[in-house]
Amino acid sequence: MKIFKMLKYRLRNPLRPLMRLFKFYFYDTSYIVGDREKLHLGNRVAVANTIFNLSSGSIYVGDYTIFSYNVMVLTGRHNFYNGMRASLVTGVNSQSWGGGEEEVPPSGFDIHIGSSVWIAAGVIITGGVKIGNGVIVAANAVVTKDIPDYSIAAGVPAKIVGDTRTLCRPPSSVNV
Ligand SMILES: CC(C)(COP(=O)(O)OP(=O)(O)OC[C@H]1O[C@@H](n2cnc3c(N)ncnc32)[C@H](O)[C@@H]1OP(=O)(O)O)[C@@H](O)C(=O)NCCC(=O)NCCS
Repeated sequence: MKIFKMLKYRLRNPLRPLMRLFKFYFYDTSYIVGDREKLHLGNRVAVANTIFNLSSGSIYVGDYTIFSYNVMVLTGRHNFYNGMRASLVTGVNSQSWGGGEEEVPPSGFDIHIGSSVWIAAGVIITGGVKIGNGVIVAANAVVTKDIPDYSIAAGVPAKIVGDTRTLCRPPSSVNV
């Protein structure tokens, strides 16, 4: 029994990167739309069934950030001209029901999310926004503007409703 315990601890650290890779490719419950290379996740980022849409920009996420259930991080957007989808006006991409470059800009709407952030269930984050470090975005919020460090943001569109620095302290035995 003791030997198993010892082996477990000895093997856990060296195997961690390998396990992370395995999880990423075989058990990943997120859904990536567009070029996976444009998704930059920091260390120890936890992702439930989140959608990352990379059509119109890159997504950068810091360390120790959590994405809960049914979150959508959406760089993608559709340009309209004079009340019509752009690709239909120009005719350039009329064969593409999805839009093509005239309609869906390939860049310019990067999303930055800091470290130690909790994106709660059902949140939608739209293209071009920056969310700071230590932020909580409450369930079902729609983030359309930048959220500064240590904010609690909620609602549609998301507004600042609190400060994570005022939340309760860790147990006294823990040094932070
Ligand atoms: C629709 C959308 C593209 C609008 O972007 P935009 O034209 O840049 O609009 P803005 O960000 O300037 O917003 C204008 C106002 O509407 C509000 N707004 C924008 N989207 C909103 C939303 N989904 N819900 C509530 N309010 C919203 C903004 O807060 C802003 O309010 P204000 O005038 O009081 O400041 C964007 O908000 C959106 O919903 N993106 C997601 C796109 C998507 O689903 N992509 C998947 C690929 S198909």
